[in-house]
Amino acid sequence: MGRIAYVNGRFVPHSEASVHIEDRGYQFADAVYEVWAVFGGKLADAEGHFVRLERSLGELSMPLPMSRAALTLVLKEALRRNRVREALIYLQVGRGVAPRDHAFPKEPVRQSVVITVSGVDRTASEARAAKGVGVVTTPETRWGRCDIKTVGLLPNALAKQKAREAGAAEAWFVDELGFVTEGASSNAWIVDGEGKLRTRDTNANILRGVTRRTLMQVIADEGLQLDERPFTADEARQAKEAFITGAGTLVLPVISVDGKPVGQGVPGPVAMKLRRLYIERAKATAI
Ligand code: PDD
Repeated sequence: MGRIAYVNGRFVPHSEASVHIEDRGYQFADAVYEVWAVFGGKLADAEGHFVRLERSLGELSMPLPMSRAALTLVLKEALRRNRVREALIYLQVGRGVAPRDHAFPKEPVRQSVVITVSGVDRTASEARAAKGVGVVTTPETRWGRCDIKTVGLLPNALAKQKAREAGAAEAWFVDELGFVTEGASSNAWIVDGEGKLRTRDTNANILRGVTRRTLMQVIADEGLQLDERPFTADEARQAKEAFITGAGTLVLPVISVDGKPVGQGVPGPVAMKLRRLYIERAKATAI
């Protein structure tokens, strides 16, 4: 059975799913998105992603296209129809289709809603985590509202391509003061020389990662110390450990920055433990 997508009220074969050429998401990136990790057919960190979705939409003067309960049902139905238990589910909500004009349509149009599902090979993901990944750094060139999860991801796509060409898995944006902001599709963390966890504070121009937030609860429960303070690429290389977080990567050890090793150049015990604890918690609270 092939993949199934949801487009504007209908479930359709993924290969035939399409949107209108004047969809404002396509022409202006006038759309927001969320990605949930799915464990055993259930949505991980469901609440956190819904809260952020509503906030992103609100910042762009858009409502939720349907109630949270209805949206949950549609997401679950998409998973059911795809017959996958381990997956990522992508939801995109846009302002809709209108004749090209930068300002919003004068009369509100029907919002665009697209859902896609992709299966995840957990065995392969665990093997990847056990090996660790490299990151490269790249200048921060994004707009000033990275807290809104919009589909305007060109700088992120270019950064990710730079990483791929360097044989790395992620790119870390570095601001003009030399501090890492976040990854192209993940938040960035280190374990410093004193064993303290460090990640950028959310007053900076970054996405408020849902995985980041849940991991902070895990960190508090473990009695570990956390410092929401920026770090440089050099500090990351001198750190004991580094890792990234996100719905796609969960908690993924980083073993090199710009080709130079972090710590011993192997996944660290703190990152691996936090990965295990995060996954346990995500599974236990998934809906
Ligand atoms: N990306 N920072 C950026 C720029 C992101 O795009 C993401 C998520 C994160 C981590 O957020 P969360 O923990 O809520 O997934 C941080 C998703 C997975 C994506 O674009 O595919």
